[in-house]
Amino acid sequence: MLRCAVTGAYGYSGKYIAWRFLNAGHEVVTLTNSPERPNAFGNRVAAKPLSFENINALTTALTGVDVLVNTYWVRFNHPRFKQADAVANTKVLFEAAFLAGVRRIVHFSITNPSLDSPLEYFRSKAVLEQCLKDSGISYAILRPAILFGREDILINNIAWVLRHIPVFGIGGDGRYKVQPIHVDDMAALAVEQSEGTKDVVIDAIGPETFTFRDMVATIGELIGKPRPIISLPPSFVWLAAQGIGRVVGDVMLTRPEIEGLMGNLLCTVSPPAGRTRLTEWIRENKETLGIRYASEMARRLDRKLGYNKECLRDVDKH
Ligand SMILES: NC(=O)c1ccc[n+]([C@@H]2O[C@H](COP(=O)([O-])OP(=O)(O)OC[C@H]3O[C@@H](n4cnc5c(N)ncnc54)[C@H](OP(=O)(O)O)[C@@H]3O)[C@@H](O)[C@H]2O)c1
Repeated sequence: MLRCAVTGAYGYSGKYIAWRFLNAGHEVVTLTNSPERPNAFGNRVAAKPLSFENINALTTALTGVDVLVNTYWVRFNHPRFKQADAVANTKVLFEAAFLAGVRRIVHFSITNPSLDSPLEYFRSKAVLEQCLKDSGISYAILRPAILFGREDILINNIAWVLRHIPVFGIGGDGRYKVQPIHVDDMAALAVEQSEGTKDVVIDAIGPETFTFRDMVATIGELIGKPRPIISLPPSFVWLAAQGIGRVVGDVMLTRPEIEGLMGNLLCTVSPPAGRTRLTEWIRENKETLGIRYASEMARRLDRKLGYNKECLRDVDKH
C-alpha cells in the first residue's frame, strides 16, 4: 500500500486519480485550498492545505507520503492569479516534498513544453519539468494535450457554443491538430507511474488525432448540432471568445491559448497513452455534453463550488 498525496482531489483530474488510488487499496490525502468543494469521498480523502506560503506546514502535510501527484497549475494570468506565481508555488511544493522524504513525484505538464517558448504556459511548464528533474526525487512527468471528461471545460464549451450559436468560428484554416485524452485514462497512467521507479517523461495523449476543424465538426455531428465552420483571423476568434466570456462571466479562451493551439503545440508524434476514444465518449455523453457552460472563473472564485453536479454521483461509478 502506498501513501499518496494528490493535489486538487475535489477538482477535475485529481478526483479521478484519487478514486483510482483508493480502488487500488492505497491511502490518499489531498492538498487543496478548496477543502469545502462538494465531493463524494466522504472521509476517505482528508484535505490538507496547499499552503505555499508556509513550507513547514506543507512539509508536515507531506511527511509519511510515498508519492505526490501534482496537478496544480494556473491556466491563465488574471488579476487574482498568475502563472509566475504557479511556478514559484510549485517550486515550494517540490522543495517541501524533498524535505518530507517523498519518494516519487508524478507531475502534470503539457505537450511540447519549451524553455524557449514565447508562450508563458509552455515555457513555465518546461521550467518546472527541469526543476523536478534537478530535485533529486524520482519522477514521472506526464504531458497531456487536452483532457476530456464530464467536468471538462474546453470540449464541453465547444459543444455549448455549437448548441447555442448557428455558426462556429475557428482561427485560420483549423488544420492544427489536437490529441485529447480521457481524464480517467490520464488518472490510470498517473497511478501506474506512481508505482514505478524509473524517471520518465510521457506524452499523455489519446488514441485519436483530429485537426481542430475536424474535432469541432465531429462534436457538432455527434451532439446533433452540425454547424457551418468558418475560418477567422485569430484576433476575431479571441474577440468572439471575449464577447461570449462577458455574457457568461468567464474567461472563455485566452490569446496565448489560441496561439498554442494554432502553433500545433497540442499534438505530438508519440504513441497513444490512453484508450478511450473521444468520439465514442461523446456518443455516450451526447445528451449532456455542452448543455451547461463550464466556467473556469466560477471554479476559481467560488471554492465551495463542485466542478459539476454529476460529480456527487460519481460514488456510484467507482
Ligand atoms: N484540463 C486540461 O485539458 C489540461 C490539458 C493539458 C494539461 N493539463 C494539466 O493538467 C493539470 C491538471 O489540470 P486540471 O484541469 O485537472 O486542473 P484542476 O483540477 O482544475 O486544478 C488542479 C489544481 O490546481 C489548482 N488550481 C487551478 N487553478 C488555480 C488557480 N487559478 N489558482 C490557484 N489554484 C488553482 C486547483 O485548486 P483547488 O484544489 O483549490 O481547486 C487544484 O488543486 C494541470 O497541470 C494542467 O496544466 C490540463
